[in-house]
Amino acid sequence: MIIIGSDHGGFELKNQLKSYLEAKGETVDDCGVFNEQSVDYPDVANIVCSKFFTTQADFAVLVCGTGIGVSIAANKIKGIRAALLCNNYSAQMAREHNNANVICFGGRTTAFEQAAQMLDVFMSSEFKGDRHQTRVDKISNIEG
Ligand code: RB5
Repeated sequence: MIIIGSDHGGFELKNQLKSYLEAKGETVDDCGVFNEQSVDYPDVANIVCSKFFTTQADFAVLVCGTGIGVSIAANKIKGIRAALLCNNYSAQMAREHNNANVICFGGRTTAFEQAAQMLDVFMSSEFKGDRHQTRVDKISNIEG
């Protein structure tokens, strides 16, 4: 299962990515928003990340205008490794090196086709472990 959510700035891209994932046969839990009324992106990040932990989903997708706000907010939550994706290479590395459990997109900066490609790359990549596990463990140590 994949958790997804956005603020108003990411509303359209979030809906497009949700449909795309469902068409691929994925189960998607949409945490909203469900209209373009202005909301605060930290609230969305909090809801989506909480759902990610309680459902033990595969990963979560967060979308705001730039993807920056939701990624900053999500990375404040212990256990979350949120990566703002900007191209296919970063999508691959987010999984292979960083073992990201949340991926973020900018609804006002990234076209749906690009985001869908990055999503595909992320989903078909695997965490490489080994020295990358050591580095991810060091991130956990920073969290305390
Ligand atoms: C909302 O206008 C905008 O600030 C938000 O979607 C996001 O881009 C913040 O980083």
